[in-house]
Amino acid sequence: MEKELQRIREAAFHELEQALDATALNDLRVKVLGKKGELTAVLRSLGSVSASMRPRIGQLVNDLRLDFEKELQAKQEAIKEAELNSRLAAEKIDVTLPGRRRELGRRHPLTLTLDRIKDVFLRMGFDIEEGPEVESDYYNFEALNLPPDHPARDMQDSFYITDQFLLRTHTSPVQVRTMQSKEPNTPIRMIAPGKVYRRDYDATHSPMFQQVEGLVVGPNIRFSDLKGTLEMFCQGIFGDSVKVRFRPSYFPFTEPSAEVDISCVICKGSGCRVCKGTGWLEILGSGMVHPRVLEMSQYDPAVVSGFAFGMGVERIAMLLFGIDDLRLFYENDVRFLRRF
Ligand code: PHE
Repeated sequence: MEKELQRIREAAFHELEQALDATALNDLRVKVLGKKGELTAVLRSLGSVSASMRPRIGQLVNDLRLDFEKELQAKQEAIKEAELNSRLAAEKIDVTLPGRRRELGRRHPLTLTLDRIKDVFLRMGFDIEEGPEVESDYYNFEALNLPPDHPARDMQDSFYITDQFLLRTHTSPVQVRTMQSKEPNTPIRMIAPGKVYRRDYDATHSPMFQQVEGLVVGPNIRFSDLKGTLEMFCQGIFGDSVKVRFRPSYFPFTEPSAEVDISCVICKGSGCRVCKGTGWLEILGSGMVHPRVLEMSQYDPAVVSGFAFGMGVERIAMLLFGIDDLRLFYENDVRFLRRF
């Protein structure tokens, strides 16, 4: 019996040393001390031991149990601590590492330009209107005083979709749509930014580009209002020192018509490559709304008058930022976009 106990002790302590985790320890505890455990079996068989030996054997069993339990607990704590340490090691972070730099996006130069244009007009009390990019021949031409055989239709090479529909060649149809959406003769003060399409492609022309249309209608709107408004606009965009010039021109939907030039932003008027030596740069078309256009939109030219204008956003952006090839705006090369 003593030998058996010695064997159990050696085996138990050996296995204890080998145990690597909490589960193994628990299995071992059950195996030795459990209801069907080795030590329990010895205790049960104590009846067959002679009465004189019984106290000694009982003492040995007890010692073994106490020793084993003590060792078991120590081992349990050691394993717990090892597990905690390895978790801490895995979660360790190096707070001295440099941060990861976030790339910040920026606004496209055309967006910046359009925002500035809108801002100047919004401060003058203008509303913002919109119209469709797929437009009917009627709104794009006819209601703007360009009858089907009018030679001015050749001024713009158009993308037709069907006989009746095309990609709008300018934002002027929004003038008509805005007037038609209101009670006749209701005063209007609006700009209409948007994409327009023409068959054109080179350093200063893109088949898609953006315009900002303007329309002011009301009682007694005069050419001097047009001049004052557009002068303020030019100064709002290019600075107070810019000079503005109105040059007679022709558009079927305005009469009289004027093209607006600003003093060259590069040479300030002395003449250079950009202004082709003239000292002036054309930046928009304008004029007093043609009475026929008012009439076709149920506005009465005897009661109201108005002026309209249209400008290219890309052209203004090129002048504003000193860019000589408009195609850069659409290539989206980040080296270009990062400059703004
Ligand atoms: N729609 C004209 C163009 O695209 C510009 C313009 C608008 C001229 C309004 C006069 C009045 O060239």
